[in-house]
Amino acid sequence: MKGLILCGGLGTRLFPLTKITNKHLLPVYDKPMVYYPISTLIEAGIHEIMIVTGGNNAGDFLRLLGNGSEFGLKHINYTFQEREGGIAEAVGLAEHFIGDDKVTVILGDNILDGSIKKAVQSFEKQKEGAKIFLKEVKDPAQYGVAKVEDERIVEIVEKPKNPVSNLAVIGVYMYDSSVIDIVKSLTPSKRGELEITDVNNAYIKKGQMTYEIFKGWWGDAGASVDALFKANEYIREKEIKKARN
Ligand code: G1P
Repeated sequence: MKGLILCGGLGTRLFPLTKITNKHLLPVYDKPMVYYPISTLIEAGIHEIMIVTGGNNAGDFLRLLGNGSEFGLKHINYTFQEREGGIAEAVGLAEHFIGDDKVTVILGDNILDGSIKKAVQSFEKQKEGAKIFLKEVKDPAQYGVAKVEDERIVEIVEKPKNPVSNLAVIGVYMYDSSVIDIVKSLTPSKRGELEITDVNNAYIKKGQMTYEIFKGWWGDAGASVDALFKANEYIREKEIKKARN
């Protein structure tokens, strides 16, 4: 299983915090944001990792992470997304890294308190297709939202005005190597990007999508200044509790 961490984009929702740096390098309590998705993959047993960066200050990832020795890694792969082409385009850039393997993709601003290890192991056994995580949220309209019938996802709608459920799709996606062909078949959305929701809907159409409800805490720290602040507060509380025990 390969691991892909997506750290592109201009982070316009966090302007001016992102005027002179990449969103995924901003602090979440005592660590840069990107440390959290790296730790999530490593805890799940994924050690072959590629970071897709782009936009401003891409070179700072090398200075910060190097070959990942701080995380016990021997090597980190990097690639560069040249334009604002969307999450799915970023996945497509990893074609040669993914090869014939499966891949777990995690958005560099998604912070998970809870393990994905069991889900990754179950996906290793899944013959083909994809697996995603859903989480009940109060404000589904800001996410991809899943319509579930008889315990199967029948459709995902990206940031719907009238959400059909309160089940958000979190930014961790497991795919087989056919994801690259799916990305190549996509056309850009209204905002000119290749959408990850279109990739997921393609797997749903093929009847190859499974899901799990993520039981831990989840924060999309890059969604807004408030979401970033909440993630900082959550991790701070967690670290303080840990230090007390
Ligand atoms: C992206 C996806 C969305 C998903 C979210 C999770 O949105 O497009 O489907 O629910 O990540 O973090 P973004 O936050 O990039 O707008």
